[in-house]
Amino acid sequence: MDHSLGADAPILFFDSGLGGLTVLGPTRELLPTAPIVYAADYAGLPYGQKSDVELAARVPALLGRLVERYRPRLAVIACNTASTIALAHVRAALDLPIVGTVPAIKPAAAMTRTGVIGVLGTEATVRQPYVSDLSARFASDKTVLRHGSPGLVTAAEAKLRGEAVDPAVVERAIAGLRDQPDGDMLDVIVLACTHFPLLQQELQAAAGPDVSLIDGAAGIARRIAHLTEGQRWPDSASPGVAVFTRSEDRPPPPLAALAPYGIGSIETI
Ligand code: DGL
Repeated sequence: MDHSLGADAPILFFDSGLGGLTVLGPTRELLPTAPIVYAADYAGLPYGQKSDVELAARVPALLGRLVERYRPRLAVIACNTASTIALAHVRAALDLPIVGTVPAIKPAAAMTRTGVIGVLGTEATVRQPYVSDLSARFASDKTVLRHGSPGLVTAAEAKLRGEAVDPAVVERAIAGLRDQPDGDMLDVIVLACTHFPLLQQELQAAAGPDVSLIDGAAGIARRIAHLTEGQRWPDSASPGVAVFTRSEDRPPPPLAALAPYGIGSIETI
């Protein structure tokens, strides 16, 4: 495949929905003129309730189509579910740098004072051996509680469209961690789904002031900047493109919801 890196070659961000915008945001701060393609697999949302087998096939196939179409210089799987299940498959199938998103368990282990960490993700992410491996490597002397919350994904999508968030959904998600043994000692929660930082305020209010919420977005942005160091970029920023896989019951959001992330047009495929 030809990866001649013209200044116009975009960075491709990929998620099941709008959660990957939480990774796009800090990346644009570091690389303000980077051309952006933001892809959301609305036909497949929610990934958190799909099987590993389905995602291991779907994600590389769709990314392959997107890479053919947009010729990115680098692709970011801005989705913990897709990364923890399909990152190795994507890397094996595609010939360009791929940046994945993994739960920020290592920094959480460094941060906790009580020794009890919560991992809040999708149901698919929290059951992954990948999460057990990270816990064993970086938090073996800590208690790592996990909880999967599909309700938060729906709430985050709604919030970005300007709809109200039901506080009960957020409270249930926090209770899913707190009600486990040792959950009352929880002092750090890893937001292990890229949708969840969209609900940062709501989650912080439900968790209380003694709990820190962390996610991996800033680290991913630094990784993207590092991997593209020395490459050419346009002199000024131009509007990015958001592309949605076509879904009968979920139309793309209004452009105004995406404009704060530098998106200037919407396509469906
Ligand atoms: N944003 C995704 C993640 O980071 C998943 C949301 C979903 O499709 O369930 O895990």
